Amino acid sequence: MTRDELAAHLDYMRELGVQGVSRAAEWRTRIETPRAEASAPEASEETGEMTEHVTPAVVAGTGDAAPTATRAPAEALAALRQTIGPACTRCKLHALGRRQVVFGVGNPQARLMFVGEAPGEDEDQQGEPFVGRAGQLLTKIIEAIGMTREQVYIANLIKCRPPGNRNPEPDEVATCEPFLFEQLGIIQPRIVVALGKFAAQSLLRTTEPITKLRGRVFEWRGASLIPTFHPAYLLRNPPAKREVWEDMKKVRELLQA
Ligand code: URA
Repeated sequence: MTRDELAAHLDYMRELGVQGVSRAAEWRTRIETPRAEASAPEASEETGEMTEHVTPAVVAGTGDAAPTATRAPAEALAALRQTIGPACTRCKLHALGRRQVVFGVGNPQARLMFVGEAPGEDEDQQGEPFVGRAGQLLTKIIEAIGMTREQVYIANLIKCRPPGNRNPEPDEVATCEPFLFEQLGIIQPRIVVALGKFAAQSLLRTTEPITKLRGRVFEWRGASLIPTFHPAYLLRNPPAKREVWEDMKKVRELLQA
């Protein structure tokens, strides 16, 4: 790392709200452990939080999705991508200007998965989640806990861009979220970070505001689910980076447990 890179990194950490650096060994080691041991669900002792959720591996509503449990994750994700198809017409967004379906990206065996809301303009153009300004911030957040985009998996609650980046509508979420549940069922991450209100409320089947949900860890189908603020909100409200950093420290702690 050059001097300039180091300075930029420290600037970013300061921006995130990090006060000081730690000499603790775990902060010097990058987390690169393969997920071999991660398939056994672990009970979250710390949280005590329980939420209701839909349990079937193949969620009703996808209809044509092949069973996933018996396939290797990469293969199962490829099959799911094919099931959705490049020109999905299941909801009205296909007729409202979206260019393409934005499926998801990353390590099919990731221990850590981020769930956003919906593709924006850049994502719609490039076919990959979180590549615009909010995405660049997410990449920095991932790097701030010693990981890379390639090590995690990133997907959205809905796979097509709503016109003008408006909020996803209930019928769009209802139609598309089964595919996210499928992705989660295939990847089986140990930790799920829900970015923003829509992802958090949908996964947790709650209407509690994100301000009430963040700062807590939920048990979700054998994974720990951590709701936090959406990176786009952080761009509008930089002081909230401090809280996101608190959430990310929890993520890091759970990854090392
Ligand atoms: N915001 C999201 O929620 N997802 C993206 O992919 C990009 C921006």
